[in-house]
Amino acid sequence: MDSLGQILLEYCSKNRYSFHTPGHKGRRDFFASLFFPDFDVTELPGLDMLHNPQGVIADAQRRAAEAYGAEETYFLVNGATVGNQAMLMTIMSQQKGKKVCVERRAHQSVINGLVISGLTPEYIPPIIHPDFNLPLGLDQTQFAAKMVNTCALHITSPSYYGTVIDLESIIKGRDLEAPALPILVDQAHGSHYIGNLFPPSAVTQGADLVVHSTHKTLSALTQAGMLHVKSERVDRQFLKKSLEILQTSSPSYLLMASLENAVNAYQKKHLWDDLYEEVAQLQERLNGILRILTVKDAGKYGIFQVDWSKILINVSSLEIDAGQAVHILRTSYGIEPELWDKENILFLLGIGNQPEDIRILRKALGELGKRYIRKNYSGKKINNPRNGIRVSLPPMHLTPREAWITPKRNIKVKDALGKISGETISVYPPGIPVVASGEEITPCVLNLLNDAEAYNWQGWQGFERGEILVLDI
Ligand SMILES: Cc1ncc(COP(=O)(O)O)c(C=O)c1O
Repeated sequence: MDSLGQILLEYCSKNRYSFHTPGHKGRRDFFASLFFPDFDVTELPGLDMLHNPQGVIADAQRRAAEAYGAEETYFLVNGATVGNQAMLMTIMSQQKGKKVCVERRAHQSVINGLVISGLTPEYIPPIIHPDFNLPLGLDQTQFAAKMVNTCALHITSPSYYGTVIDLESIIKGRDLEAPALPILVDQAHGSHYIGNLFPPSAVTQGADLVVHSTHKTLSALTQAGMLHVKSERVDRQFLKKSLEILQTSSPSYLLMASLENAVNAYQKKHLWDDLYEEVAQLQERLNGILRILTVKDAGKYGIFQVDWSKILINVSSLEIDAGQAVHILRTSYGIEPELWDKENILFLLGIGNQPEDIRILRKALGELGKRYIRKNYSGKKINNPRNGIRVSLPPMHLTPREAWITPKRNIKVKDALGKISGETISVYPPGIPVVASGEEITPCVLNLLNDAEAYNWQGWQGFERGEILVLDI
């Protein structure tokens, strides 16, 4: 059997056009000052310590905070995942209440953060966009009602697909209704938000805690992220302690040095200018052939703004499905997207992309369009009976923590209707849970599970055997 190293070597030799994470896209110039394996060291004299930084790491974090307009920034070596978990742990430690408002486009790390913290979620469901059949938007008015009886709001913006909510008005509402309520933003996909080409950064908008997956769109190495603080509402001592509990005691200096470099790259706004122009051209040329999510979609189906650097394309106008389209893009053009489902493909841009990458993508999609467009395609979505659907979430019988400590058993998926799930199951990517542990397996959840073959699933141990873990109660 091939080793992991061999497979990686083979993969890298193909020189694909990367439209997936990490954001550096393999560009060596981002790492010219980062020597491997030399920099792979431990906490030696003069090199400071991540958990109690006093020297170079403290300085690097300070510069990051300055660049983002935060009061403090913590480097993360386990991605935005640990940032989400630490935020919730911190809130739990403040004992202001046991319920936390979580909007349900949240990544699985948020649900896992609920297991760790023991907080009870009050979810806000997403709105499914009819053209993409994806949870792109949200009815923001729902936040107001949750503010008075919860101890924090957890918001995911942008979504994986680049849709952004109106954080400013949520913060204004909070200031009026519940001034002490911390607002935690998972901006994993928005660490590049700077200048007027992009939506505003949640830090400058006034969120209390903001987590960034710096490796997704900037030049940091995979796993490297940041947690920014700008708040009197959260206890920083507990935040620091939470990170100490959750992060390794041997943080990688390569990851931390790459974060420092990423802050420098972040400030070079011009690196995005040419990419923006190319994406605008791509959208224009493919208009009428493929349905692309663009800024014109803002204002509908609970979408406030759209980040152009995430190119979401619906291929229902074609005679082939998204999986077949991805196969052609990969084998004929060397294009590797971030993710796809049956009808959509998501292409993620990062700071390392070159304008040429987008030109190749435009050419490839144009040729796919010419070759496979449906005969009766008129520029509109075909036979689309769907309206913006407000998702009804599965009833929660136990909190994620209660479900975690309850005995469980495996049963066949076909027998699971009405049972309480013992696992949090997500399609990965994007990692948004279809069902969280403690929730009922409804007909809608069951349909998604039955439809699973072609997807990548996480958190579903019995997938191969057609089984699911349910609570034994
Ligand atoms: C919205 C969101 N939050 C958090 C994460 C976790 O980020 P990381 O991979 O940096 O741990 C992801 C990962 O895909 C995500 O999509």
